[in-house]
Amino acid sequence: MKNRMPNDNTKTANLVNYRDPTLIGLGASIVLTTLVIIGSRNLEHFDSALFGYLIASIVAFGAIFFRYALWLQRPATRAYFSRGLKLFFQRKKFVRNTIDATKTVGINMLAQKFIFERAKTRWLMHFLIMWGCILSAAITFPLVWGWIHFKLESETGYRAYVFGFPMQSMDVHSVMAFFTFKALNFTALMVLAGCAIAIHRRLKDRGAIAVQQFLLDFVPHLLLIAICVSGLMLTASSTYFGGYMYSFIALSHQAIVIMTLFFLPFGKLFHIVQRPASIGVELYQQRAKEMEQAKCQRCGVEFASVMWLGDLKSVVEKVGFDYTMENGEKLQDYCPRCKRVMRGLAYSVLMDRPDKVFHGSRADNE
Ligand code: HEM
Ligand code: HEM
Repeated sequence: MKNRMPNDNTKTANLVNYRDPTLIGLGASIVLTTLVIIGSRNLEHFDSALFGYLIASIVAFGAIFFRYALWLQRPATRAYFSRGLKLFFQRKKFVRNTIDATKTVGINMLAQKFIFERAKTRWLMHFLIMWGCILSAAITFPLVWGWIHFKLESETGYRAYVFGFPMQSMDVHSVMAFFTFKALNFTALMVLAGCAIAIHRRLKDRGAIAVQQFLLDFVPHLLLIAICVSGLMLTASSTYFGGYMYSFIALSHQAIVIMTLFFLPFGKLFHIVQRPASIGVELYQQRAKEMEQAKCQRCGVEFASVMWLGDLKSVVEKVGFDYTMENGEKLQDYCPRCKRVMRGLAYSVLMDRPDKVFHGSRADNE
């Protein structure tokens, strides 16, 4: 084998281009700002008390696009992403692809079956956190962006307006009004319960303890708990304590939400936008099985699709590795079993040359 290490570190570093992600991020922020102006009817229905939330959400939105575009520059991610899109839009298979992708969204994104298979409590933990956060976001962001506002129409009747268009009215004492105006308290309880299960596991499970890190595995929970507790304190203040310390608690809630929004693109919570890309990976794997299969150069067994092998070789080359062997073939052209056998044989030859045994990397490079 010629050289197994990236032969030129700058080659990998040079692949990163910050200009396009920056432009994409700025573009996303501009689009959101425009939608805020349109949706709030020229800021007529925008609540100026929510200005801090607005600015933070616009910046975070752009930052998420920036980080996503940067992530897509990684050769492997890019290969899966562009190939996934091409496979999806194949004209002949478009309907079948749409059905398969919808199934993946339902089973893996919404119901999260793959977490259920790990453990039921982990599934419950994630279900509560994910749906608690999604519902909270669905309530708060449209309010912050002025896309939804409520108008008092009679002494006890409210009408909701979405993007300036009138919707159904409701009585302030109705069950619907109770759930509409109190919904955040229920979602806060969902998220708190989910975080409690997660933290309990992280304090007890030896496997988790061995690998977890404070910033990566605890900070997201602490932020979510702080948001929920400060939100519930707002309700407690207005309902039971005549508004005692309300503005201070509201400011704390805002500060923690803003911190979390800024943390979103750079911490563990980025998986919220990163993970759904696995729909493309799943489609890739499903379609790859139906395509022409590559045969191992040594034993002739079919072990992967020709498409996957081609993509793998180009990704490996882009990250600066060269797996060309002495016979001119690429190591990737061999099945996993033969690779192990070949490695074993190479080591057995080295055993006869004691001067090379403890210098594996030198021997590999020769
Ligand atoms: C609003 C959306 C979401 C939120 C707030 C969220 C939040 C979290 C948090 C806080 C954790 C860490 C749990 C721990 O400490 O063990 C986690 C883990 C995880 N998340 Fe999410 N997530 C969301 C969406 C998603 C989506 C869409 C997927 C993928 C389809 C996903 C996949 C995962 C997986 C696989 C884990 C590891 C779970 C385990 O086995 O313990 N998440 N998520
Ligand atoms: C996990 C996510 C969140 C939870 C569980 C949550 C929870 C709460 C709760 C329980 C309240 C009190 C509601 C009431 O008085 O009935 C509240 C208020 C509020 N939340 Fe959140 N929240 C979350 C995220 C957000 C986000 C992302 C934003 C902004 C983008 C936001 C903006 C607000 C605002 C503006 C208020 C009203 C505060 C005021 O009166 O000044 N929240 N939240």
